[in-house]
Amino acid sequence: MKTKSIFTALLFLFTLITPQYSIAQLPKETEAQKAQRLKWWTDARFGMFIHWGLYASPARHEWVKNAERMTNEQYQKYFEVFNPDMYDPHEWAKMAKAAGMKYVVLTAKHHEGFCLFDSKFTDYKSVNTPYGKDIIKEYVEAFRAEGLKVGFYYSLIDWHHPDYTIDRVHPLRQASDSAYSRLNKGRDMNKYREYIKNQVRELLTNYGEISIIWFDFSFPGKNGKGRSDWDSENILKLARSLQPGIIVDDRLDLSDVEGGWDFTTPEQVKVSKWPEVNGKRVPWETCQTFSGSWGYYRDETSWKSPAQLLELLIESVSKGGNLLLNVGPTARGVFDYRAQDRLKSMGEWMKYNYRSIYGCTEAPAGFTAPANTLLTFNPVTKRLYVHLLAYPMGSLTLSGIGDKVKYIQFLHDASEIKFDTSEDRAKNDITLQLPVTKPLVEIPVLEIYLK
Ligand code: GLC
Repeated sequence: MKTKSIFTALLFLFTLITPQYSIAQLPKETEAQKAQRLKWWTDARFGMFIHWGLYASPARHEWVKNAERMTNEQYQKYFEVFNPDMYDPHEWAKMAKAAGMKYVVLTAKHHEGFCLFDSKFTDYKSVNTPYGKDIIKEYVEAFRAEGLKVGFYYSLIDWHHPDYTIDRVHPLRQASDSAYSRLNKGRDMNKYREYIKNQVRELLTNYGEISIIWFDFSFPGKNGKGRSDWDSENILKLARSLQPGIIVDDRLDLSDVEGGWDFTTPEQVKVSKWPEVNGKRVPWETCQTFSGSWGYYRDETSWKSPAQLLELLIESVSKGGNLLLNVGPTARGVFDYRAQDRLKSMGEWMKYNYRSIYGCTEAPAGFTAPANTLLTFNPVTKRLYVHLLAYPMGSLTLSGIGDKVKYIQFLHDASEIKFDTSEDRAKNDITLQLPVTKPLVEIPVLEIYLK
């Protein structure tokens, strides 16, 4: 009896001193409820990622502090000159919208630790640079005004915070365990964990409705960091309690926790098929760069062509996923001319062909894509889209669907495409008569009305 009451008293004390453990559980949801919460996002298919921070000045990768093993003192010069005098998020938002993008995710803080928002918990923020303003506030207002859904990227990693312990991906990484313990003496991850929560609370309280939060990233194991280092579950509970509709990525290291993530994030790769977890298809979004690095990289020459970028988008939708395409603005606050050029080309295509992207997904079983094509399908309108990556010479055969087709047209100009049903009835093929000359469209699309 006595032990029991001591135990109850201790338990009570414990909940008092660690209030975060008494936050409600992660909200429970049925699969249908989750699909409904994510619906605007799965319909949107195409978003803009923006990586912007002090690393825009060195202009040689957002990991420059790490790659060149800089100390805070060495990196400080970028803080002192940060003054993006041409920053006009309305222009950014207009370019994103014209490209066909429906949502946006900006780095509120990247690994370097610099905050684009006016946080009460640090001095290391845009407000204290020569620029002197809250970048996030301007961003949120501008993109919202263009009708895009607004999200934040928040780096769990922090190469500037004095309490963040040196680990294997830190600029000051070490070769031996003893060197780590020497350097980490006095650093207090408890304080850093509080710092994350305080900032997440600010970001999800001070800027109105936030639709996405993109935490980045966990690397558990020796000299790494994972869920217990961040206190991931409580960060997530906090985020969900402040913004109940928010959509969250899968980099908090909670992959096996129910409700621990909303979508998976294959980075800079083409997936071979719709990603599955325990045999079930899951929501996914691939994030991709124009040229390799996320932050502005002046001398990078590996820029993808408009056709390659469109293919990335169509490919993702053809496997039931989204594309989050990244821009790294310069330290003047503008999109580099190469980025502007790509966005424009994509917008030109989207203007006429968005119907094969928005609200579309993988084609149902039984529809096979002919060589050099990608299929997408709109389950509501029951239209099938054939994207012609290499333009065929006058005709194209679609196998096994002759009895399902009602009408076919080019999507860009709604001009009829005549077709013949196979003479061999058992084959159920159709052959389309296409003009020999490729229409003036980067990737022409056939829109097929199904019966
Ligand atoms: C990686 C990189 C980072 C980038 C991110 C985008 O995790 O660390 O620089 O922000 O990918 O997905």
